[in-house]
Amino acid sequence: MLVEECLLQAEEIRDWMIDLRRELHQFPELMYEEVKTSARVRRTLDELGIVYRYPVAQTGVVASIGRGDGPCVALRADMDALPIHEQTNVEFRSRNDGKMHACGHDCHTAMLLGAAKILKQNESQVGGTVKLLFQPAEEGGAGGKRMRDEGVLENPAVQRIFGLHVWPQLPTGALGARPGVFLAAAGWVEITVRGKGGHAAMPHLAVDTVLTSAQIITNLQSVISREIDPLDSGVISITMVHGGDAYNVIPETVHLRGTIRSLSLAGLQQIQQRVREVAAQIAQAHRCEAVVEFPGNDYPPTVNDEHCWNVAKDLAGRLVGGEHVVELAPVMGGEDFAYFAEKVPGCFVALGMRNPEIDAVYGVHHPKFKADESVLPLGTAMHVAFALSSLDELRRDTYQP
Ligand code: NI
Repeated sequence: MLVEECLLQAEEIRDWMIDLRRELHQFPELMYEEVKTSARVRRTLDELGIVYRYPVAQTGVVASIGRGDGPCVALRADMDALPIHEQTNVEFRSRNDGKMHACGHDCHTAMLLGAAKILKQNESQVGGTVKLLFQPAEEGGAGGKRMRDEGVLENPAVQRIFGLHVWPQLPTGALGARPGVFLAAAGWVEITVRGKGGHAAMPHLAVDTVLTSAQIITNLQSVISREIDPLDSGVISITMVHGGDAYNVIPETVHLRGTIRSLSLAGLQQIQQRVREVAAQIAQAHRCEAVVEFPGNDYPPTVNDEHCWNVAKDLAGRLVGGEHVVELAPVMGGEDFAYFAEKVPGCFVALGMRNPEIDAVYGVHHPKFKADESVLPLGTAMHVAFALSSLDELRRDTYQP
């Protein structure tokens, strides 16, 4: 199937995808709680007559289209939402108070279901197998890692993987990515500062955890500004500071939380080590104790295989015109597509959807984040075109990675 034909067929199911996306948008579910979302995905696959494996990683679904043998290409979408109270004025806004699809995963799921529909309609042209991975818990729960550990890249062995993310920094109609490291290694940090509580009027009888926490927060930034090569990249953002219940009481304990990022796992570990040391010793200097933990999953960086990016770039150019295909700089956001791309050559692509005309100008994770649904067919076409052209190439065996 020609690339242009992929887009034509995707345009034909535009309304079907928008309806699906809006339904998912109204019922956002957090990581590993994607029960209704997963059920909706399976119901759609049932309607399309597509076989799937469920459950994978709790709520995840892996659908298969094609002959069931190799070559095999995987397409991936994430399904989870965020603990954000939606502040948009769309009529299909979230009905689950305090939860919102503010990262576009509803769009990702709808686009991948669109790809499923088109691939099934053209199954005779699928020379091998396309696996569609509907994964849970992208937002910090490492659902990608759990799916990988549960064998989704095997039987048949996935040789190439592709994923998309909606991208409000790029205009509608543009696509972008880069070869090599595209997204950061990311993890979270928790620091518990313990001192001695007491009357705020008599600080000399207490050990002040609030002042100590403030010193730790400011000093951590010197790790970034003074210890990392200015041409390298690193981020420490302390984003949660919890302590104290009264204006006149020095609290016994203060809890800090935040995120650490780097463009490599080694860089992430280096920053973690320094956070541990700086926090402990600043605390000690102020007669407190700091316990530093990294309780979450350390996401690896998302690395695009150069050849896969060239394939995607070429297809994107044919769909939107080469002038709308952008080679982006690396981004410090993390993404657990990284767990798949660590094992098989892959490409993760940014799908532009900034559109001031409909107020789609807010970044992801913003309570007013709005998706430009007009790009859904383009995303679906990219999925289908990447799968079919990769299968062709792998079958011809002209490319040896
Ligand atoms: Ni996301």
